Amino acid sequence: MAWFRKKEPLAEVDFDHLPRHVAIIMDGNGRWAKKRGLPRTAGHAAGAETFRSIATYCKEIGLEYLTVYAFSTENWKRPPEEVNAIMGLLKRYLLEAIEQMERDRVKMCFFGDLSPLTAELRALCEQTKEISRHYDGVQVNICLNYGGRDEILRAAQTYAMDCQEGRADPNHLTEENFSRYLYSNGVPDPDLVIRPGGEVRLSNFLLWQSAYAEFYVTDVLWPDFSKEELRRALASYQHRNRRYGGVTLS
Ligand code: FPP
Repeated sequence: MAWFRKKEPLAEVDFDHLPRHVAIIMDGNGRWAKKRGLPRTAGHAAGAETFRSIATYCKEIGLEYLTVYAFSTENWKRPPEEVNAIMGLLKRYLLEAIEQMERDRVKMCFFGDLSPLTAELRALCEQTKEISRHYDGVQVNICLNYGGRDEILRAAQTYAMDCQEGRADPNHLTEENFSRYLYSNGVPDPDLVIRPGGEVRLSNFLLWQSAYAEFYVTDVLWPDFSKEELRRALASYQHRNRRYGGVTLS
């Protein structure tokens, strides 16, 4: 797998032909903190800063959609201090986002089952989503208590109920119809999935939506992920030949 992880050259990005949708698995916060003799929570705090700067950069370059994996359905298994610290960082980010929304015009959405979150956090998610509903800057989708399998199961359940009650007909089920039942309803599939932190796996992230996404892995840990790293990923994406299962005729 060494070829996969070699550092991509810092090639020019063609900003007129960006992918529409970039999704990021923000991994490596814990290792970043450990390397510095800091608690894991310090890694998440640094990761939240990186998220701010990358989201702002995505807005500046005119990316349409950015989706980040902030908290998975499996992350509840972490020690309560760590879970609380991540929830605290999210709360802080959402409060700031509300203050700056009019200026930034970032559209905020959430993918995941928000019901186990505190009432306060749920209300902040709802508020940011509602205020930014008509904004035209980058759309930032934060995956919170999100799992790809969980998303597909919930969609299947709602779809089955719609069939039972006559709102849907299983004889006419298509991929397009089914994808309307997912959290990502209305959002185009990600073109590029970036995973910092060096692990080469999807970790239950956007399983349905990533079917034809290009994958970019770097050893750089998320808190160290910079605009330059994002440009590397974008340039690498622009050199790929996407065939969607077909062939390229020369
Ligand atoms: C994975 O790294 C990271 C997480 C589970 C949490 C991500 C959360 C943030 C970046 C902060 C809050 C987010 C927002 C949107 C404000 P890890 O801890 O598994 O890293 P490791 O693999 O090095 O242990």
